[in-house]
Amino acid sequence: MSTKSMAKLTDQEAMNLAIAEAKKGYGWVEPNPPVGCVILDKDRNLIATGYHGKFGKSHAEIEALKKVKNKKLLDGAHMFITLEPCSHFGKTPPCAVQLATLPFGSVTFGRVDPNPAVKGKGSLILRSSGMKAIKYKGDRTELDKLHDMFCYSYENTSTFVTIKIASSIDGQMALKSGESQWITCEESRLFAHELRARHGAVLVGRGTLNIDDPYLNVRHPKFKKFRGENKVVVIDPDGSILNNIQKYKISNYRSKKNIFVVTSNKIKSNNKHCQHISVSLKGKYLDLGQLKKTLFLNGIQSVLVEGGPLTVSQFLEQNEANKLCLFMSPSILGAKGGMSWTSELAIKKLSQKIALQNSTYEAIGSDILLTSYFKGAFS
Ligand SMILES: NC(=O)c1ccc[n+]([C@@H]2O[C@H](COP(=O)([O-])OP(=O)(O)OC[C@H]3O[C@@H](n4cnc5c(N)ncnc54)[C@H](OP(=O)(O)O)[C@@H]3O)[C@@H](O)[C@H]2O)c1
Repeated sequence: MSTKSMAKLTDQEAMNLAIAEAKKGYGWVEPNPPVGCVILDKDRNLIATGYHGKFGKSHAEIEALKKVKNKKLLDGAHMFITLEPCSHFGKTPPCAVQLATLPFGSVTFGRVDPNPAVKGKGSLILRSSGMKAIKYKGDRTELDKLHDMFCYSYENTSTFVTIKIASSIDGQMALKSGESQWITCEESRLFAHELRARHGAVLVGRGTLNIDDPYLNVRHPKFKKFRGENKVVVIDPDGSILNNIQKYKISNYRSKKNIFVVTSNKIKSNNKHCQHISVSLKGKYLDLGQLKKTLFLNGIQSVLVEGGPLTVSQFLEQNEANKLCLFMSPSILGAKGGMSWTSELAIKKLSQKIALQNSTYEAIGSDILLTSYFKGAFS
């Protein structure tokens, strides 16, 4: 990359570019975080960008460094990374150790890595070598969103929950008859497959399994890697489907290690076709906070909750939802014949309304996608 034609970047521009780079890894890097990196020369001209492109492959910093052919440009250069460089031997050697040997003027990172194997150690390695390692001081909203699932799950030792809804503009996600295919447009449905790819598992209630018998796999041309092997979690409080799980389509092409059926802890089973998780009851419903902790211990960092109305309402009622992806089609189904995604939620005072934050709106085909966060999603 020639520096002559390059504009000088401010810290914020460099970090925004690093964030844009990181997003190229969405769906490929999980359960690692998507990470992006930008290198400016000593005069702040852009010389390289890089991102973590695949789980187990080299990290963003190393990808950016590979692109700098003239190593003299690294003298006094400034690196911007969305996340603190790693300090441990995982699938790749520690990036911080490699960066510490280079003649950078500064390394700015967006967020401290919450993984206990790294937390603060990456920046310590840099500082111990005399390098200026700076925690980014600009607006962190986009960084928080970028690292939402990764940071939340490590900071809370609990699975991050995204609620995905396909609804009419009047909030109906199915008809009372059970018919729900399709409310939203083809483009929205394709994007929903990308969301599946980004999450550790897809979660549904047993009602959805009984009515729709969905595959819940990732069918997206960009993500052929999954071949039906993404993880699925089914909420089945009394174990009524637990012993028949092999008859449902989620069991097609999916090994039992990737199928989790959640029942109340009163249910005992020696089912050989899935993983059986049991949690306590909270009133008459399963304790979803306990479920999130248990899923995290089972290596699931995030779940995409795909319904139905009762399951979604319970995540809201128990205050255990972290993010909402609401696909709204410009159509009306009517509350009398429809099933609202908040059908089981009863808010008694306006002061108790669930207020969401950090919202974005995008047009997807003929639909609108609202992406928003629940309180407590960011630390
Ligand atoms: N438009 C969309 O985005 C969308 C997405 C998915 C589904 N749907 C539609 O939604 C309809 C199904 O609705 P639904 O409400 O029956 O389905 P559901 O939410 O998938 O399943 C409800 C069942 O799950 C169990 N459950 C869920 N959370 C629980 C908790 N915290 N504690 C205890 N039990 C819990 C209960 O089982 P028990 O009955 O055993 O107590 C409940 O009856 C279908 O028509 C489907 O097509 C629409």
